[in-house]
Amino acid sequence: MSFKIISADEAASYVHHDDHVGFGGFTAAGTPKAVSQAIARKAEAEHAAGRPFRISIYTGASTSDNLDGVLARAKAVKFRTPYQSCPDSRAAINNGEISYCDVHLSELAQMLRYGFLGGIDVAIVEASSVTDDGKIYLGPGVGIAPTVCALAKKIIIELNAHNPKELAGFHDIYQPADPPRRREIPLYKPSDRIGVPYIQVEPEKIVGIVETNLSDGVKEFAPVDEVTMKIGQNVSDFLTSQLKAGLIPPEFLPLQSGVGNIANAVLGCLGENPHIPPFQMYTEVVQDAVIGLIREGRCTFASSCSLTVSDKVMQQVYSDLDFFRDKLVLRPGEISNNPELVRRMGLITINTALEADIFGNVNSTHVTGTKMMNGIGGSGDFTRNAYLSIFTCPSVAKGGKISAIVPMVSHLDHSEHSVNIIVTEWGVADLRGKAPRERAELIIENCAHPMYRPLLREYLSLRGKGHTPHCLEAAFAFHEEFMRSGDMAQTKFSVE
Ligand code: COA
Repeated sequence: MSFKIISADEAASYVHHDDHVGFGGFTAAGTPKAVSQAIARKAEAEHAAGRPFRISIYTGASTSDNLDGVLARAKAVKFRTPYQSCPDSRAAINNGEISYCDVHLSELAQMLRYGFLGGIDVAIVEASSVTDDGKIYLGPGVGIAPTVCALAKKIIIELNAHNPKELAGFHDIYQPADPPRRREIPLYKPSDRIGVPYIQVEPEKIVGIVETNLSDGVKEFAPVDEVTMKIGQNVSDFLTSQLKAGLIPPEFLPLQSGVGNIANAVLGCLGENPHIPPFQMYTEVVQDAVIGLIREGRCTFASSCSLTVSDKVMQQVYSDLDFFRDKLVLRPGEISNNPELVRRMGLITINTALEADIFGNVNSTHVTGTKMMNGIGGSGDFTRNAYLSIFTCPSVAKGGKISAIVPMVSHLDHSEHSVNIIVTEWGVADLRGKAPRERAELIIENCAHPMYRPLLREYLSLRGKGHTPHCLEAAFAFHEEFMRSGDMAQTKFSVE
């Protein structure tokens, strides 16, 4: 190979205070691990020497502690977009140390190309192989790698020996033209390929290659608990009823499913349901459950932006790549989450809410309307454009002291206009074609925890008038009570 092999610390020397740094990968999958840690060490050394060192970070999605965690702890982050989920970066965002801009994942690549966020100084991407003429074959996550490589002045590659070279061919790299020259994205079903399996860069931009041998470190999922299992079964039963009613085509429609335990359990239940035919996925993350479903022939194809699977499952995939070669494709986030494609292919989308209100508005991001949890991620890309948009959540959190169903959401990510179905462990509220009062009935009776139903009914009986009968003096009474006593169940409405 003609490129210079450098250490992670030497790579970090190319990153300077105030730089805009774009990282490849999506979730922990395929996200650089060694250079980010070296940048954190450099930041600490610079701070110790009395010099400023803070950078702006652009990624495909969340990363891992090796990136967001170490850099937040080193106080090396000035600006962050678009999604994160590390406790230390979350804390730094909420105390104002990191300036965080929460955007839809599908939009970041084009926002960078349009120049809305300034340029990219350095791109750092993880690869499974690189050719002398500048073809980069990525690891198990794509994200914004093609865009930041195209825009960056300098490119650093982490060549990770943990990823087999045979991963080449799993990626489909395609970037749309920018307006006014953009045409339709010519992808009509999840398995279509429209690009090339590598990122082509100008070789002279590659300043060095850092050799690593590191796993993504994705943890195995917690065993499915009773509540999560019930939510999964409710989604699965609901989709079966829709199939039977002829409201979903008999061959089924591609599924998108969010991240986390609930999403993993929902997919497990769908896979086990004999009434649901083998299906395809068009999604942004492939988690452990999907790999099992592909093995069993329940999922016949998965298009994703990343393989976010536990180390154990990743080893199974890597040791049998030939089996998966015609059943998986990895795409940039701009394509995996593209609203045009979501609408065209008629996706059934399943995402998790933090809270939903009785009229069907959903908060995915802010605890009590003020504290950032993770970010909107891809949930908006999918929800707004879905054939059928579903939100799931346990009806209560923190041992029952928080109701996930509230009079009015304390922050709005997905409005009543985009949310079709809400599912908790208690049941399903199908909001399609329903007026606000009808929605409230369904959500309270089918989804709220029985303990909170009387309070929610009482809220509806306050003197709210109009099409959406809110009573503004009491709309946040649940949240105010939680902040006062730590228990929403103690809420007392004091409306004259
Ligand atoms: N108010 C306050 N805290 C709440 C809450 C509420 N209404 N609902 C849940 N929580 C807390 C839980 O208690 C838990 O806290 P803990 O970690 O201290 O135990 C935490 O929030 C996470 O809840 P959990 O039930 O474990 O859900 P999760 O891990 O599935 O995450 C979201 C839920 C909403 C935070 C997560 O799905 C998310 O970030 N979504 C937005 C992005 C998205 O949808 N991406 C997928 C698109 S493809």
